[in-house]
Amino acid sequence: MRLKSRKCIITGAGSGIGRAIAKGYAREGATVVIADASLRGAEETATSIRAEGFIAEAITVDVRFRDQVEHMMFCALERLGGLDIMVCAAGISPVTHFLDISEEEWDRVIDTNLKGLFLCGQAAARHMKTAGGGVIINVTSQLSEVAQPKCTHYVASKGGAKMITKGMVVDLAQYNIRINSLAPGLTNTPMNPLDTPEGMAEYVKVMPHIPMGRVGQPEDMVGAAVFLASDESSYVTGATVLVDGGYLAL
Ligand SMILES: NC(=O)c1ccc[n+]([C@@H]2O[C@H](COP(=O)([O-])OP(=O)(O)OC[C@H]3O[C@@H](n4cnc5c(N)ncnc54)[C@H](O)[C@@H]3O)[C@@H](O)[C@H]2O)c1
Repeated sequence: MRLKSRKCIITGAGSGIGRAIAKGYAREGATVVIADASLRGAEETATSIRAEGFIAEAITVDVRFRDQVEHMMFCALERLGGLDIMVCAAGISPVTHFLDISEEEWDRVIDTNLKGLFLCGQAAARHMKTAGGGVIINVTSQLSEVAQPKCTHYVASKGGAKMITKGMVVDLAQYNIRINSLAPGLTNTPMNPLDTPEGMAEYVKVMPHIPMGRVGQPEDMVGAAVFLASDESSYVTGATVLVDGGYLAL
């Protein structure tokens, strides 16, 4: 068990990639707090983890707002008795042509995908500094590196997510806090449901560019997420671990 007795918060774990990481961490011995804007989703994840005999709690949070993030941190610390690992996976990805993005939609994407990392990372790091160290993982994207049509706000947020990770490293390494980016490629989750007509269109467009010949599944992200959280990566910080089937290699 590579995360035995580690105490973790995973935002966005009410669905998709965050949920898969939460389950993977619990199976590696961690105690997990599932934090999500959807309490229903968070409770579903926590229930399925408990059904396997592991420990999980659900908390509701909107990562765009400092008061909610601080409340999440307070509740999680009370329930966990500490915090070793913070995974920030909450995110949104509306599909809108650049000319049609409203100011409201721009703010919602940037606040969720980028400001959320600032607020959660700062709250976690303040605790970890006092506690003597910890690990933060920001779930970014292959779209931290390249753009795609109709998602300028998303790619801007994910490019920023990659750079906030590096900025945090420079300021926080001295406190024994490691921060890395986990960058998924196209992954079959409710964010990108590939069984809908729109999803299938995206799938067909992207498939020729994935050398491994398939899109990702949420479970494909777990190995890298466990590695980055565990002592196996004790000298890894500021890295971007791409889990994209080779998409960016082409
Ligand atoms: N699915 C993909 O193809 C893909 C590819 C690259 C990166 N990602 C990134 O992976 C992460 C997880 O995405 P996913 O595919 O699992 O999506 P998902 O929609 O399945 O899960 C995202 C979760 O985040 C939660 N969330 C959204 N806004 C929130 C907020 N303001 N506060 C708290 N929780 C909030 C949602 O309720 C949901 O449970 C995101 O950051 C996404 O950008 C996904």
